[in-house]
Amino acid sequence: MRALTIRRPDDWHLHLRDGDMLKGVIGDTSRHFARAIIMPNLVPPVVTTADAQAYRERILAALPKGDRFEPLMTLYLTEQTSPDDVEAGKASGLITAVKLYPAGATTNSHGGVRDLDKAMPVLERMAKIGLPLCVHGEVTTPEVDIFDREAVFIDTVLDPLRRRLPDLKVTMEHVTTKEGIDYIRESQHNLAGSITTHHLMINRNAILVGGIRPHYYCLPVAKREHHRLALRAAAVSGDARFFLGTDSAPHIDPLKECGCGCAGIYTSINTMSCLAHVFEEENALDRLEAFTSLNGPAWYGLLPNEERITLTKGDSPIKFPAKIETDAGIVTVFDPLVPLYWHVASS
Ligand code: DOR
Ligand code: ZN
Repeated sequence: MRALTIRRPDDWHLHLRDGDMLKGVIGDTSRHFARAIIMPNLVPPVVTTADAQAYRERILAALPKGDRFEPLMTLYLTEQTSPDDVEAGKASGLITAVKLYPAGATTNSHGGVRDLDKAMPVLERMAKIGLPLCVHGEVTTPEVDIFDREAVFIDTVLDPLRRRLPDLKVTMEHVTTKEGIDYIRESQHNLAGSITTHHLMINRNAILVGGIRPHYYCLPVAKREHHRLALRAAAVSGDARFFLGTDSAPHIDPLKECGCGCAGIYTSINTMSCLAHVFEEENALDRLEAFTSLNGPAWYGLLPNEERITLTKGDSPIKFPAKIETDAGIVTVFDPLVPLYWHVASS
């Protein structure tokens, strides 16, 4: 197969940042994607419906002329979040989900949740009104090894929460382990998982072999190869509980290439090429559309996009820029370590 037309994709987990960075990166998403769930971990975070409304307007103002793109806004859950504000946000159509960052789990998460009991009134309201909870699924307990933090989170936080609130719809975001995939597969209802582009393509060797490579560092950190293979099997399976959330997370190079580098990989620009490569390797190009364009909207109760994009396979590798320049600084683009031949020919 050398050409593939699919419904226009959506990205169910995206960091757009703000200000100059937002202006520098948004076009890489709006070129191919119709909608994206926008992460609220700004500084300060997007905690109220009013914050989300203002951020949405800044995003729309930063769009390249002529691009149509719908930012799906989220709220950053804190122990002070008001159930009434969350309900009003959903009722107005502005808020698509609420995001749980365990405090200290990742970039700008210090204002996140320390004691889940304190957030129970909001979570109960969300279960009642059918508003999904997006979860960064890692414990932050210092004794737990960083490679085990997702698996321990499932056992000690996620499963007890889902038993306590079976009506709460939970998206386990950026699943990185076989344990996560198995947990979603075994669940009967109200649980789905997003998978990033980079976790389908790299394992932890990319970060550590031959020197420390900060541009492959993200959270949850990439795991062993057998986890990557489990993620790939889930992504290409067509199972409606798995869909794309790129977690494309731009940081300027000086903040990645230093003594304590930030977590995050920038993939918006080459994600569709990477995914076509992965799905072709897995003999599953016919299921790419489910992963990028059908399963996500079905889970979030939205219609799939009517527009189509066409991917074509060329004879020579596509040259993506190694870095993009923004007014906030230079951002390194994800290098998948293999040549890519598929590209979005019309969108
Ligand atoms: O790698 C990551 N980067 N993981 C996250 O959870 C946050 C993100 C960011 O905001 O940079
Ligand atoms: Zn993220």
